Amino acid sequence: MTEQHLENLRVEAEQIIARYEQKRAAMLPVLRLIQERFGCISPEAEEWAAQLLGVAPAHVREVVTFYSLFHQRPVGTYHVQVCANIACALRGAQGCLAALSERLGIRPGETTTDGRFTLSTVECLCACDVAPVLQLNDRYVGPVTPEIIETLLRSPEALAEIPLRYQGTVDLEEPVLSRRFSLPNAETMETTLRDDGYQAARKALRELSPEQVIKEVTSANLRGLGGAGFPTGKKWSFIPRDSGKPTFLVVNADEGEPGTIKDRYLIVKDPHRLLEGVIIAAYATGARKAYIYIRGEYAAAAKMLQQAVDEAYRYGFLGRRIFSSAFDLEVVVHRGAGAYICGEESALLESLEGKKGFPRLRPPYPAICGLFASPTVINNVETLACVPAIIQRGGAAFAKLGFGKSGGTRLFSLSGHVRQPGLYEASHGVTLRRLIEAAGGVREGRRLKAVIPGGISAKILRADEIDVRMDFDSLVAAGTMAGSAGVIVMDETTCMARALWYAAKFFAHESCGQCSPCREGTGWIFKIVDRIMRGEGRAQDLDALLGVATNMEGRTICVFADAAAWPVQSYITKFRDEFEHHVREGRCDLGSDVSVVPVPQDPVKTFRGIFKSLGLTERLLKDRREELEREQRPNTRR
Ligand SMILES: Cc1cc2nc3c(=O)[nH]c(=O)nc-3n(C[C@H](O)[C@H](O)[C@H](O)COP(=O)(O)O)c2cc1C
Ligand code: SF4
Ligand code: FES
Repeated sequence: MTEQHLENLRVEAEQIIARYEQKRAAMLPVLRLIQERFGCISPEAEEWAAQLLGVAPAHVREVVTFYSLFHQRPVGTYHVQVCANIACALRGAQGCLAALSERLGIRPGETTTDGRFTLSTVECLCACDVAPVLQLNDRYVGPVTPEIIETLLRSPEALAEIPLRYQGTVDLEEPVLSRRFSLPNAETMETTLRDDGYQAARKALRELSPEQVIKEVTSANLRGLGGAGFPTGKKWSFIPRDSGKPTFLVVNADEGEPGTIKDRYLIVKDPHRLLEGVIIAAYATGARKAYIYIRGEYAAAAKMLQQAVDEAYRYGFLGRRIFSSAFDLEVVVHRGAGAYICGEESALLESLEGKKGFPRLRPPYPAICGLFASPTVINNVETLACVPAIIQRGGAAFAKLGFGKSGGTRLFSLSGHVRQPGLYEASHGVTLRRLIEAAGGVREGRRLKAVIPGGISAKILRADEIDVRMDFDSLVAAGTMAGSAGVIVMDETTCMARALWYAAKFFAHESCGQCSPCREGTGWIFKIVDRIMRGEGRAQDLDALLGVATNMEGRTICVFADAAAWPVQSYITKFRDEFEHHVREGRCDLGSDVSVVPVPQDPVKTFRGIFKSLGLTERLLKDRREELEREQRPNTRR
């Protein structure tokens, strides 16, 4: 890659930069452009990008090494990334990885000698309904079967992106969020307009003041569906009107919570519902520019979203004087680059400004000092997709569809050991039992053992706790949380210690590493659980795990550390006998029937979040790999 090769990208790179308020904010798309053209980001390319973006080369390097989708060395022609998170593990991911590893003759993290295939493991791809799933370059492929592995090895181009299979509503008179999902060509403007699309935005801009829109959203009891459940109307009312700075709307489409598939469905199946919500939210909060930050792995969804944005501009629903009002709005689709922590709103803002995804200390809160130090509203895709229905039906009617202080309906992702995994729309008041029944119940001949109700961070529920309603407050009262509504079901064959191992691996991998309790705590938790799983557990390990978890809670910049502590606390408390058995006997009694068995993993990747944050070099990573490999030598006690 010579300087001339890089210079050939200048015009395209400058067009990208022009979309942003600050040059540096174009960091991720410019680096993606380089990587797409040359296969990796070399030191020369880093220098070139630094000069173009007006930052020091060290800033580019720290970004390249932070995000998992950027490579400093080329990968094979086909990059096969097998999901190694819990929902895929429950449905046999470890077997797929082992088969691929054997057939290709390489371990995760390696490339075949002919340069054709690189094999990797990856954390949840948020396609848990088609588990086990893998990503082949930009394409999602699943559920992976022996036949698919054969095709992948012989003619990888023959494998297409998986289609989305929407499962339907549960006990609703009519779908709200998913009503266009089953229509032919649902994603097009033509279908959208036939189904009253953009009527709510037209009504808001022409007939309602921004304050009236906020009032409707407040009376709708709409809660943030990204996971925190913060009341949306209240959030919008925090935006100052007289700051003298522009206001931004940022859409959080960085879906990454293991067990969650909903935002991708909304974007692919009905992108115009999201865009209509964006228009109304921007109008209500005084934003004239919206950024949609979409997860880097969602390549096909990002393409469809961009097409929908272009279509909306063509129809005059975005741009200048929308619906002949005085309101203007610009929308930019911005792709992430592979880091779960960028779903956390302040990390997302850092990332959008072209930096590592390090969460910010608060206050100041984004409403006052957010993107580019300006007032910023951040909302999840699904939250915004609810807004058109609120304006159309009225806030009070929308609230009635829900339960208690959680208004409306939401999209529940069901994965794991249910007969029909997939996406279901239901009222917040639906019970967990009813959702599992709607998904066909637990697979043939098995009994339910445990359920994660709201994504991997949520505390686990036992089989006798599933009569709980799924609204935000009922789940808190039950000692867990609604989170992202990612419901992961485990039957009696599941080893709970192994299930915790997957959660611990995930958090150790994804910690950004800024805070010592989180950086050290997630590493220690993984190490101890891993030791238990290798049959080398010690009597004091369970209390040590609980102690580490307690010391992580409430002591860090963001709540990631708390989220990493919750599974430890709930799995060990609720299934202590099983953990004690593992420690005492040094083995798993679920034996051959165990659903979750170890994934041969790349030890460096497990701790990459931590290494990346510290900016450690490749040499140090190599040393660590060797050290970990020494630690992982066959266990003589077994
Ligand atoms: C570690 C972590 C990961 C998160 N991931 C996501 C995510 O993938 N998508 C999302 O919308 N919100 C995510 N959130 C929540 C956001 O910080 C924020 O609350 C949300 O985007 C606000 O939008 P809402 O009020 O519409 O939910 C995450 C929070 C944390 C702490
Ligand atoms: S809690 Fe963890 S993820 Fe959050 S800022 Fe601290 S180190 Fe990063
Ligand atoms: S896609 Fe594999 S766990 Fe979610």
